[in-house]
Amino acid sequence: MEIVKVSASKEYNVHIGTGFLDTIGEKICEIKKPCRVVLVSDDTVYSLYGARVKASLENAEYKVCEFVFPHGEDAKSLENFGKMQEFCAENSITRTDLFIALGGGVTGDLTGFVASTYLRGVDFVQIPTTVLSMVDSSVGGKTAINLNAGKNLCGAFYQPIAVYADCETLKTLPDETFNEGCAEIIKYGMILDSEFLTYLSKNSIRDNIEYAVKRCVEIKRDVVEHDEFEKGERKLLNFGHTIGHAIEKCSNLTISHGNAVAIGMVIATKGAYEIGMSDEDYSDVLLPILKANNLPTTCEFSAEDLYKVSLSDKKRSLDTMALIVPEEYGLCKIMKLPVEDLLNFIEKGMN
Ligand code: NAD
Ligand code: GLY
Repeated sequence: MEIVKVSASKEYNVHIGTGFLDTIGEKICEIKKPCRVVLVSDDTVYSLYGARVKASLENAEYKVCEFVFPHGEDAKSLENFGKMQEFCAENSITRTDLFIALGGGVTGDLTGFVASTYLRGVDFVQIPTTVLSMVDSSVGGKTAINLNAGKNLCGAFYQPIAVYADCETLKTLPDETFNEGCAEIIKYGMILDSEFLTYLSKNSIRDNIEYAVKRCVEIKRDVVEHDEFEKGERKLLNFGHTIGHAIEKCSNLTISHGNAVAIGMVIATKGAYEIGMSDEDYSDVLLPILKANNLPTTCEFSAEDLYKVSLSDKKRSLDTMALIVPEEYGLCKIMKLPVEDLLNFIEKGMN
């Protein structure tokens, strides 16, 4: 088992290994004595792993109640958030109890946000079960739900007290969902680690998933420790996300987050080169890695469609948009683009 220690506003360990789900109760006991646990999961993940996690927690003398919701991005809604808050109150959950998110990024984001607000803050643990949630959403404390106006518009920075990534759970992931998480893995190579980028160009992510998760968590840890509240460097993690969120929104969420980020990274990389923000066209590096991991690199929407939706992005100020673009091989930088130039950037990125 590998452990990556994160020192942010809370200190916690990210445990990465394979096949420890049945002893998760004992492991959590090392950091929090038995209490009541709200085990949160979507219906798919709960049916696969819920009983095992619950049994292990009960063996360790935790008292477990379950909040299970239909899988999918729609679960990150104000309605579901309200339901979960009421569920906790009805079950007399107190401030010294514990929330456990068992699932992907949707479960983690929802649980974390409820944990940050219920009784003004209750401890929570992440047990990520998708590639994306292992390498990105379970670490760093971003929690959120969606509003009609856009994704993740309502949320909080709230760190978990521990993360347990058991790579064995990835064996039941549909290939498509596994691949989507690979987009975030490739993102880390592009933004901050040229050695890892080279590694990804030569090695299969699937065959080396435990190493890939660990390396990504280390990179994310370093970023979060420098800039937990996203005043600067943390924005690098949004590489591909401004256009990616626009793609997700234009598709009414039928294009998944990971696929949208893959396409968004291509548009940002090409667009940056074409308008002179990057000296070289690093899409030559990016495209083969995305393709090798069965990720899309184009979409059917027009540049105009994506532009209009991008304008509501959180990274926008009145006149400028913060964009993440390649500076060197395996290194990105944050650039401010006047909003009036954004359409041209997207158009060039799509050609
Ligand atoms: P998800 O949680 O919806 O999981 C994807 C699908 O896989 C779901 O249908 C789920 O039921 C299923 N699933 C999960 N684990 C499984 C397993 N082991 N076996 C079989 N099926 C399994 O989505 P996701 O891709 O994990 O996360 C996407 C979400 O994460 C988005 O809402 C995005 O905004 C958010 N996100 C948050 C952050 C952050 O820093 N907080 C970062 C990136 C993404
Ligand atoms: N996923 C982006 C971040 O955690 O900042």
